[in-house]
Amino acid sequence: MKKIARLFLAPLFGLILFAACKQKPSAEAITAFNSVTPVPVSATLDGGTFFLSDGTSIGISPVNDDTRNVAGLLQDLLRPATGFEFALEPGNKDAGILLELKEDAAQGDEGYSLTVSEDQIRITANKAAGIFYGIQTLRQLLPASIESKSKQDVRWEIATGQITDKPGYGWRGSMLDVARHFFTIEDVKRYIDLIAMYKMNIFHLHLTDDQGWRIEIKSWPNLALHGGSTEVGGAKAGFFTQEQYKDIIAYAQKRYITVIPEIDMPGHINSALASYGELNGGTIVPEEGRVKIVQENPILGKEKNKPTELYTGTEVGWSTLRLEKESSIRFINDVMRELAEITPGPYLHFGGDEAHVTKKSDYIGFVKLFSDIAKANKKILVGWEEIGQGEIDENAIAQHWANVKYAQMAAEKGAKIIMSPSTRVYIDMQYDSLSRIGLHWAAYIEADHAYNWDPATQVEGIDPEQILGVETPLWSETITDMEDIEYLLFPRVTAVAEIGWSPAAARNWENYRTRIAEHGVRWKKLGIDYYPSKKIDWKE
Ligand code: ACM
Repeated sequence: MKKIARLFLAPLFGLILFAACKQKPSAEAITAFNSVTPVPVSATLDGGTFFLSDGTSIGISPVNDDTRNVAGLLQDLLRPATGFEFALEPGNKDAGILLELKEDAAQGDEGYSLTVSEDQIRITANKAAGIFYGIQTLRQLLPASIESKSKQDVRWEIATGQITDKPGYGWRGSMLDVARHFFTIEDVKRYIDLIAMYKMNIFHLHLTDDQGWRIEIKSWPNLALHGGSTEVGGAKAGFFTQEQYKDIIAYAQKRYITVIPEIDMPGHINSALASYGELNGGTIVPEEGRVKIVQENPILGKEKNKPTELYTGTEVGWSTLRLEKESSIRFINDVMRELAEITPGPYLHFGGDEAHVTKKSDYIGFVKLFSDIAKANKKILVGWEEIGQGEIDENAIAQHWANVKYAQMAAEKGAKIIMSPSTRVYIDMQYDSLSRIGLHWAAYIEADHAYNWDPATQVEGIDPEQILGVETPLWSETITDMEDIEYLLFPRVTAVAEIGWSPAAARNWENYRTRIAEHGVRWKKLGIDYYPSKKIDWKE
């Protein structure tokens, strides 16, 4: 061959060779692909590599508010660590990353399909929520440094392959108690971000309890002003104005999370009794065997119709509204009407737990009243499992936490059930006796214990069809800041997220602990103060 021909042909052969054999993904990219959590329904590697670059753009189709929203969130996610622009190219189906809404009945409302080839990342879904979940998966396929808030010098490599995914349960939630200790809007938004990252779609806000009233009610202003003024331990606290509450809801909505506001009644109500004397029915003589008398109980010896003292302790089950009081009925109607008006989601949570000093007949009357009020405000009644004792039907949702009998009663009446068994998913429980915060009245809950259970078989006699899903409550008696929150959430909230999302047949502790060890690296980049459980071999 002439020298000149060799000069031209050699690079050509090289090019052909390059095209024929894909660039193999690194071990890190393969590990990331195999560590997606919650574990996807199906995931197949195909041996190539995609690289994000300065020129990678984001195409959306069709062009509407939904696709613009998810594209914006993806830009926010990718820009800081890469330093790339990720220009939005409405309608460009050949963009490096394509987010596409496309009818596919099999995917339902939240499923998605993620295809990574060597020249494009494509996320398709029926609904924008599905694209959002596809983005959460994509995020996990990238190097952990993608979670850094400043520009990183990293090759943004993703292993090529195909993921098809959808959730097992439609209710995948977490609850934050802002009543025992109050948290800032910034904390609440971060909480929403953290659960959204693992494809949870419900954020339950426990807004009131004996120790604090945290939502402005315009027709009863003293509830928040006085009832929200303190917290467990006696520090100065606060409340959310209705505008701030709406801001939280809008933030959650953008991330496909429904907020469930809870006003806990007829028990757990001292913050209201302390704010309005007319609600106080006076000293309670509990029915035999129903409650231990709490010595510090601010109602004991307190005259009827006089406000009680604010309460900063942690005992439960000693306060109640009285059904015979006209003011109670007016109060509940006003509060729930105002709450319904500022809550776009379909649910109102009326509490109903641990009403140990409420007369049984009163309790039944309250549940009837809750049902009527929910209906009048075109909302779905949610309550803790005790509401199973009352007149409820298939329109109600009962949240199982401790007493199987009440959950079964609710299910027998046709109610839908949320599974929050306190021995498994009360993540305010300590991991073990050495945990620096948390309680242990229900159990010590290590990561494997939070993982190894099945909502479908947790309570005998409940038809799996009636089970909406799972929710992990974080009560706040012992926690005061975001560091505490994260220490209790991780690595357990991810276990609950997987139970809610992934099919039972795909859930396996050994596999989960291997995957979640990789996530510890991501959590560090995110500044998450997780609990370094000894059950998991964390990666550096
Ligand atoms: C509860 O833990 N009292 C619902």
